[in-house]
This record gives sequence, structure tokens and C-alpha cells, in this order.
Amino acid sequence: MRGKVRELPLRTAAGYVANMHAIVQLTVNGDRRSAGVPVHFTLLEALRYPLGLTGSKQGCDKGDCGACTVLLDDEPVLSCITPVWEAEGREVLTVEGLAGPGGLHPLQDAFDTTGAAQCGFCTPGILMSAYGLLLRNASPTREEIQDALSGNLCRCTGYTKIVEAVEQAAERIRRNRHAASP
Ligand code: FES
Ligand code: FES
Repeated sequence: MRGKVRELPLRTAAGYVANMHAIVQLTVNGDRRSAGVPVHFTLLEALRYPLGLTGSKQGCDKGDCGACTVLLDDEPVLSCITPVWEAEGREVLTVEGLAGPGGLHPLQDAFDTTGAAQCGFCTPGILMSAYGLLLRNASPTREEIQDALSGNLCRCTGYTKIVEAVEQAAERIRRNRHAASP
């Protein structure tokens, strides 16, 4: 085992003791969570199954579609190819953690008002990639948005409205910051 994952001996139906599971401790959306998971689990599997956070989607499950994107220490990662132990001791942000006490995040609002989500399967991953972009670049160009979302596949929208939504959200966030500054 790697990282700080601790082995959890399990007694099988046949009475054997097997070290095939481990307890992982994660910080997800600001909450400390722990779960017993098979040692081969990915971060996506840990989020969706023991922790019940099904917003991150299991699309291709091999790093091709971006539907499983979450933030790990503010950086977008493909959680379907990230071993769960890599997330121990780090901050995980999923789409469930995007809205704040005041309501939806501006990105979520913008996806709604521009019609950037159709079936919605790709939307959680795209929101998290866009959120990661806006954390490091408050005024991205259209090309920078397209580049940041290049690993997120959408089979419905044609991407135009998605890029517009990110532009709209970036502008609203800048306006809010400006209004809040003394
Ligand atoms: S489900 Fe992770 S990249 Fe497709
Ligand atoms: S909205 Fe359907 S895949 Fe993107």
C-alpha cells in the first residue's frame, strides 16, 4: 500500500483474512470523510459508492471523456484514473461542493441561463474544469476556455453555449469581486 492508507484486515466468507480493503480519510467539499474501500478503488469510485457523491459521472472510466473531473488541491484531475490513496490528506472538491450558502455558483447559474447543459451528463465535469480555470485565471480568453475544456467531451451542445456560459460566469465573478472591494 502507498500513501497513508491503512490496511483493514477483512474476514472473508470462507474465513480467510485478506488485506484487500483499506480505510481512506479524505477531505471532500470541506468535510472530513472516511470510508473502507477496496485497495484498487479510484477516487471516483470512492466518491460515488461509499461516500454517495454521484455528481461526478462515470463515463468512459479510462481518462478520455472528462465527466469525472474533480478538483484536487484546486487542480482539475480525472478522478476515474486517480487512485483513491492519492487524495489522502488533500482537498477534494466535487460538483456537490460548488454551490455556496448564497445559492448556485455563478458558473451553474450561467449554464442554466445560456442553455449550456442539455442531457447534463458532461456538465459536472465541465463545471469543475471551468471552476479550476477561473481559480487560476479570472479573465480567460475564449481560446483559454476552449483549451481548459478540451478534455471534457459533450455529445449534445456543440460547445458554443458552454464557452459562452464560462465567459458570462467569469464576468459576473469579476463584477462581484469589484463590488465587494473597498
Ligand atoms: S469517466 Fe473519467 S475521463 Fe471519462
Ligand atoms: S449536455 Fe449532454 S453530453 Fe453534454
